[in-house]
Amino acid sequence: MPLIRPGEPRDLAEIRAIQATSPECAQWDPTEYLNYGVLVATFGMHLTGFLVGRTLEPREHELLNLAVAPEFRRQGIGRALVGAWLERAPGSVYLEVRPSNRAARLFYKSLFFQEVSTRPEYYNDPPEPAIVLKFHSC
Ligand SMILES: CC(C)(COP(=O)(O)OP(=O)(O)OC[C@H]1O[C@@H](n2cnc3c(N)ncnc32)[C@H](O)[C@@H]1OP(=O)(O)O)[C@@H](O)C(=O)NCCC(=O)NCCS
Repeated sequence: MPLIRPGEPRDLAEIRAIQATSPECAQWDPTEYLNYGVLVATFGMHLTGFLVGRTLEPREHELLNLAVAPEFRRQGIGRALVGAWLERAPGSVYLEVRPSNRAARLFYKSLFFQEVSTRPEYYNDPPEPAIVLKFHSC
């Protein structure tokens, strides 16, 4: 089982490295993530994944970014990160995903997120609409 803990400034270099190897996720400046909520997964000395989320209202949250290092995928790390974050985010949780990101869509489907709407012309480089996903946690 991965260890999940809040992200810290010392994690930023490894978060940046995972993000660079995950072109499907948002490519924002990781130093900004500490202004939001960051969770990291670790395995031994390795940082294996990260999640960034924010609270918009007391019971409304947005998952901003998520990636697992390619060599650690399909080992339950993404599920553990989202599960740990949902425990801290009661109410409604939203996120956007590219229609072309088949792995992420199957991942969120396996966690019972529901596709609720689309946002036309949402992404750039390459241009693509977004699918909005929602999960309601107690
Ligand atoms: C999406 C992502 C975070 C999933 O992380 P992960 O640690 O590999 O996912 P898990 O091992 O927890 O998978 C949980 C379940 O999701 C589904 N799933 C995950 N990846 C999948 C894939 N490539 N194909 C099909 N189903 C997949 C499976 O049902 C899986 O359960 P199983 O392995 O027992 O069959 C990871 O693929 C990733 O970092 N992708 C690149 C970045 C990205 O797309 N981020 C999301 C942007 S919105």
